[in-house]
Amino acid sequence: MRDIVEKLYTSGDLSDEELSALITSDDSDAAELLKKYADETRRKYYGTKVFLRGLIEISSYCKNDCLYCGIRRSSSDADRYRLSREDILSCCKNGYSLGFRTFVMQGGEDPFFTDDVMVPLIAEIKKKYPDCAVTLSLGERSYESYRRMKDAGADRYLLRHEAASEELYSKLHPEHMSLSRRKECLFALRELGYQVGAGFMVGAPFQTTSHLIEDLRFLQELRPQMIGIGPFIPHHSTPFAEEKGGTLELTLRLLGILRLLFPMVLLPATTALGTIAPNGRELGLMTGCNVVMPNLSPVKVRKKYDLYDNKICTGEEAAECRGCLQRRIESAGYTVANERGDCVDNA
Ligand code: 5AD
Ligand code: FES
Repeated sequence: MRDIVEKLYTSGDLSDEELSALITSDDSDAAELLKKYADETRRKYYGTKVFLRGLIEISSYCKNDCLYCGIRRSSSDADRYRLSREDILSCCKNGYSLGFRTFVMQGGEDPFFTDDVMVPLIAEIKKKYPDCAVTLSLGERSYESYRRMKDAGADRYLLRHEAASEELYSKLHPEHMSLSRRKECLFALRELGYQVGAGFMVGAPFQTTSHLIEDLRFLQELRPQMIGIGPFIPHHSTPFAEEKGGTLELTLRLLGILRLLFPMVLLPATTALGTIAPNGRELGLMTGCNVVMPNLSPVKVRKKYDLYDNKICTGEEAAECRGCLQRRIESAGYTVANERGDCVDNA
């Protein structure tokens, strides 16, 4: 197995068969080597820097019904909220003073946040904080909408593809959603000049190793600047309540592989990874991750942005999370970078 890791490190790619062997291997030596090469690679391009993204969860309303997600339309016990313009601007103000230079506005697909609402808001944030990047994560929208928000100053867009296999995609999503539409959105975002983030959940129900390889191949085709992956975690009020969650080991394995397939990519150590293991994010950082996304949402709404069970950081103020994360990052041997943190491939 070590030879496969060596090959991935030196050539930057593997055959499907080799990937499959590496993904499913329980060889701990190979896992250690993968971690070592992943860390070496991230250090080559990013040194010890870890970029922070201030995550503002602007709405828990969603017109979609993804089967895995706790804020899906059918979650009748979900507590819905939407932040006002003033709330969002005050999160940015707080975040700026804490050193964040990227603000991520993420939400369910909430029809309230039309282009006429988003465009002036994006413009205002960019005007107040010209040295900051604005990232959007608002799901599938029209080309025209992506264009208007880009023109207003948005820099980046996160839209996980969720599953690059048609078969798996359709098992995780309601009938009216389609993988082809999702891909269309991602290619539109790229064409419009956004720095794009795609990604998927690890250990989602029905997911096989060959589905994961399809995800990796799709990412090689899209070449996004950021790749967000985290373990699937069941939510009690979804159809997947009784399913098993993704594991720490498999998530770390895939993070290591992603770092070697995409040496310069931005790779977050996700909140979901920190949720399934107390030191999950630190282990992610030591396996190639170079981004963390602390929560900047007002504490009063945090528990309501309830994508999966037992989500961490729902009781802490932004400043507490910032301090906690800084300690965690430094304890893992890295340093917090108070900068926009663009992908070096794109800077
Ligand atoms: N477990 C883990 N991740 C989830 N997401 C949504 N629901 C869950 C869950 N139950 C992820 C999706 C989405 C991102 C915002 O959160 O991949 O794109
Ligand atoms: Fe939020 Fe530790 S990062 S409390």
